[in-house]
This record gives sequence, C-alpha cells and structure tokens, in this order.
Amino acid sequence: MNKNNKWYFLIGLAIVLLILYIGYFFTDIGRGFGDNNIKIEDPLDIKEIESGNKLPLPALLEDMNPKEKEAEFDLIVQYGKTQFIEGYEANTLGYNGNYLGPVIRVNRGDNVKINVKNSLNEPTTVHWHGLEVIGEMDGGPHQVIVPNTTWEPYFTIDQHAATLWYHPHLLHKTGEQVYKGLAGLLYIEDENSKKLDIPKDYGVNDIPLVIQDKRFTDNGNIPYDLSMSDLMNGFLGDTVLINGAINPELDLKNEVVRLRLLNGSNARSYNFNFSDNRKFYQIASDGGFLEESVEMNVVSLAPGERAEILLDLSDYNVGDRVSFRDDNYDLMNIKITEESNKVIKIPKELVKVEDYNRDEIIRSRVFVMSGMGPMVTINGKQMSMDRIDERLKLGELEEWVVINDSSGMGGMRMMNSTPHPFHVHGVQFRIIEKNARTPPANERGWKDTVMVKDGEEVRILVRFKKKGLFMYHCHILEHEDSGMMGQFLVE
Ligand code: C2O
Ligand code: CU
Ligand code: CU
Repeated sequence: MNKNNKWYFLIGLAIVLLILYIGYFFTDIGRGFGDNNIKIEDPLDIKEIESGNKLPLPALLEDMNPKEKEAEFDLIVQYGKTQFIEGYEANTLGYNGNYLGPVIRVNRGDNVKINVKNSLNEPTTVHWHGLEVIGEMDGGPHQVIVPNTTWEPYFTIDQHAATLWYHPHLLHKTGEQVYKGLAGLLYIEDENSKKLDIPKDYGVNDIPLVIQDKRFTDNGNIPYDLSMSDLMNGFLGDTVLINGAINPELDLKNEVVRLRLLNGSNARSYNFNFSDNRKFYQIASDGGFLEESVEMNVVSLAPGERAEILLDLSDYNVGDRVSFRDDNYDLMNIKITEESNKVIKIPKELVKVEDYNRDEIIRSRVFVMSGMGPMVTINGKQMSMDRIDERLKLGELEEWVVINDSSGMGGMRMMNSTPHPFHVHGVQFRIIEKNARTPPANERGWKDTVMVKDGEEVRILVRFKKKGLFMYHCHILEHEDSGMMGQFLVE
C-alpha cells in the first residue's frame, strides 16, 4: 500500500465505523419510539411466580363526612416497601399504603375536601388529572406540599361521570414520584352512571386496572435511574404490572364485566387486547361516557389516557381462561371461576354527549411539540414557572391545533419519531380532527390527553369552566420533567 492508499483506507474505515456506530445508536434509541419496540421480557424468572398471584384491588377510600353531598378524604403520601417479586423488597411510595393509592369515589355535585398529608422528606404535589377545578386546587407544580404539612384542597364536582386519576406533579420530579408508586384512581359518578345498566359492583364486575411498566434490578428493586435512552424515549420498563402485580390472575363470573383501564406508565403506550381476539366495547374515554358503545378488538392508550370497556364473558364456562394482553404479551390471566345468573346486555346508546358549535370558536392557537430528549419543547419553549405562555377567557370556545414536529427539521423522520401524548389541565376537551380526518369513534367523547405521533396534527376544542393557572404538557413524564410543558391562565 502506498501512502495515499493507506490514507484512503483509514478514512474509509473510519467512515464505516462511524456509520455503524450511528446506526447502532439510532436503532438502540429507536426502540420504543411510538411503537414500543423495547422488548418486554422476564427479568427474573417471573413465569415461576405467576400462579396464585391474584390481582390486587386498591381500597375504596372512606368518606369521613356523613352528610349528603359532602365528602372528606384523608390521603397520606408515604414511603413503602413492596414485594413485586416474592422474596425481594423494593423501595416504593404510596398513598395510604406501600404502593399506589386508594380509589376515591365522588358524585357529581358533591362538595369535596381532601386532606393530603406529605409524610415524605421531600416535597410533592397531588394533581387531579382530568378534574375541572380552579387552578389553586389543581395540584400542579405551584401547589407544593412541603414535608410534614397538609394541603387541603376543596372543590365541587362539576362534570360528567368519569374515571380520572391523581398523581404528583412536582416540577422535574413527576417521573420519579409516579414511577415509585404515587398514582391512584378518582371515580366520578352521576345520574347517567347510576342509571345505565352496566356493571357497577366495585372489584366484582367493575374492575380498576392500573397498568404500568417497571424495570427491576436483580434484587427486585425499581430505582429510577435515567439512561440517555430514557431521556430520549421516556422511561420504558421491561415488565408490565397491573395494580402493582406481575402477571396477576383475575377471577370473574361468565357475564358482562367492566374494566376501567388507566395507562399510568411513565412513557409506554399499549395496544390492549384479549388472547382470543375477543370483541369488547369501549363505553368511556378519559372524561366520561361515549355517546354509543364502540365495538373494538384493540384499544390503544398513551400515558395518562383511560378507557372503560365492557367485556362479554357469557360464552365461557367455569374453568376457562383468557388473557388480557398488550400486543402479544400477556399481562393478566382472566379465569372464569363461577357461573353467573345475571344477564346484562351491552347497551348501544349510552349518554348524550353535548356537541360544540364550531361557529362559536373565538380563536385558534397552535402548539408545536418538537425537539429530542432533554431538549423537548412546546412552541420552542421549555417550562418556566414564572412565565405565562397563553391567556384565555373563561367560557370561550377555542380550537387548539397540536402538532408533533419532533423530526421536522432536516428530514430525520425515520430516526427520530417521538410520540407525544398532549395533556391539558382543568378541562375535558373534544378531538375534532386527527390528521384532517374525523377521529375514530372511541375518541369522539370527552378527552384530556391525546396521543400525537410524529408528523401528526390534532385539532381539539377547549372551553374552560374554571379560572386559574393551569398546565399543558406531554404526558411522557420524562419529557414533562425535561420541560415539555407550558402554562396558561384562564381569567
Ligand atoms: Cu396527569 Cu399534568 O398530568
Ligand atoms: Cu392533568
Ligand atoms: Cu413527549
């Protein structure tokens, strides 16, 4: 080799290595972008511990106020120890317990007071995700509960029956505190939810399912240590838990059952389905019942989203099993253990969902989500506690155009397609268009979180009923913590 050829060879070799390296880097972080390609595997030999592992049910929180139309609840934010894997203890956080929180159930019209005591030695907040209350009661990053103090929000429930949830919202700390176990469900009931002939027996035929993914260490702990890839995609676990249990079993009668699904994961989206490809019927989205039940085989939920579904098990016999899955991955084993004597038909008509008149739209605002990893932004900005990004008027109908332009620049779309579930506080909104099309039937009801994939444009209608300072943000908690959040003031 003469000198020149040697240089060409070395430069060529360097380029090849660089390409291989970049290729590796992008395939690595590319996993989990949108389609959750990060493999979920058994970290420890989970197969061996799955039998007899019953689905845990969160407690129903006791209302301490005996008066009609009044309710008072106590929540204590505390440290806990949880055995996710038998024989191994993890350090966790919980509300009134070691892990997760109780179900708070209230009625429309109730005057509710909640005493939230922070027994941690770090600050926290408790945000009521999906609840329409004034800004000061919302529990966002401004309502900090310092250690050993009690926050006492009170509000009147002024919205439709829905499956909402609550979780911390401390600036830059939401991801960690939710991941360690701070999350619970908040049910609102109203005349419709009481009148409809659907399953309502908590824990018997009306089952809460809080779905979250975790990454276990060899000794069964769940530390929240973010790698570069976690900062890019959000924290993706390798094991999915339901109500804190790995691969649990749910015993049911062969009848129509109602499952209330909450994707409480930091970053993972799911495509829920059943192993025999059984049809089910979605009856509610984030903020309440749909107008009609929607027949489906798969329901996709981004972080923060909820769905209520009815599943007809009447053609099964005692002893039969079916599994509840994410794509092909079994999450929970449903076992028919008893013959039912009930006959519930799946209703077609549910409620009347009020329509917004588009002629009343006062203005349109655009929210562009872009950037990568710790540099994710909305409209080019990262969250600042003392900047108000948008100002709105109470009661005015607005159209918000939400765009995911995460790979807009430089045509890098293939490599960098980051999905961003967009969430708005203090309101239930309506999706009117997804990529210039009418949204699918199960997304035409009340929503507070909507998945916006790379390159997508979603149009929503918002009308605020409560005043105050609120947040909008990406519900991938690592993106939120990185600053993919803004503030708006409703006056
Ligand atoms: Cu689920 Cu801003 O929150
Ligand atoms: Cu929220
Ligand atoms: Cu995001």
